[in-house]
Amino acid sequence: NSIVVLISGNGTNLQSIIDATEKQQIHGRITAVISNKADAYGLTRAEQAGIQSIVVSHKDYADRSDYDQALMKEIDRFHPRAVVLAGFMRILSAEFVGHYQGRMFNIHPSLLPKYKGLHTHRRALEAQDTEHGASVHFVTPELDGGPVILQAKVPVFEDDTEAELAERVRQQELCIYPLVIKWFCEDRLVLQNGKVLLDNKV
Ligand code: GRF
Repeated sequence: NSIVVLISGNGTNLQSIIDATEKQQIHGRITAVISNKADAYGLTRAEQAGIQSIVVSHKDYADRSDYDQALMKEIDRFHPRAVVLAGFMRILSAEFVGHYQGRMFNIHPSLLPKYKGLHTHRRALEAQDTEHGASVHFVTPELDGGPVILQAKVPVFEDDTEAELAERVRQQELCIYPLVIKWFCEDRLVLQNGKVLLDNKV
């Protein structure tokens, strides 16, 4: 199973997936890591793991459609079974999303459908939520709106700072994302008529 991971930043989620493939917990291989930002530390993580790292900068393209075309071309060179968005901070066109339907995943730092978009930890604190978390979902054209596959919850403490809460959530992300990719690579997970099926059960 060829897996292509898209990143924009630090790449701790990427690292957790690299580790799981190296331990052969995931039956697959990350064939490329692609970043829209040249200075993303995740590119260094890829290089250290001997994985091809590629930059496709949005600054080099006139509009979203051109960028997404270029990105697709780059991704498809690796014939991926799965495309994994791991802190990839770009909105993708419907055409791009459609091309990878049922095999593209995203992780979002909230208990979806709550808090789509940015600043999720701040919003959870402001709402005085007592629990918060992270969600892995199939990517559909609606931003952070695709069918949820797996969530992890964390408690929110009264004196939490945004950074503390973010870190607590991120620790959970590192557990749930590799697990979902593992299921997918074992053919246990499919998107069927907009529903998530795991081991043939909804
Ligand atoms: C994660 O919190 C993810 O949920 C969000 O961006 C962050 C990426 O962190 N979309 P990293 O680059 O994997 O360390």
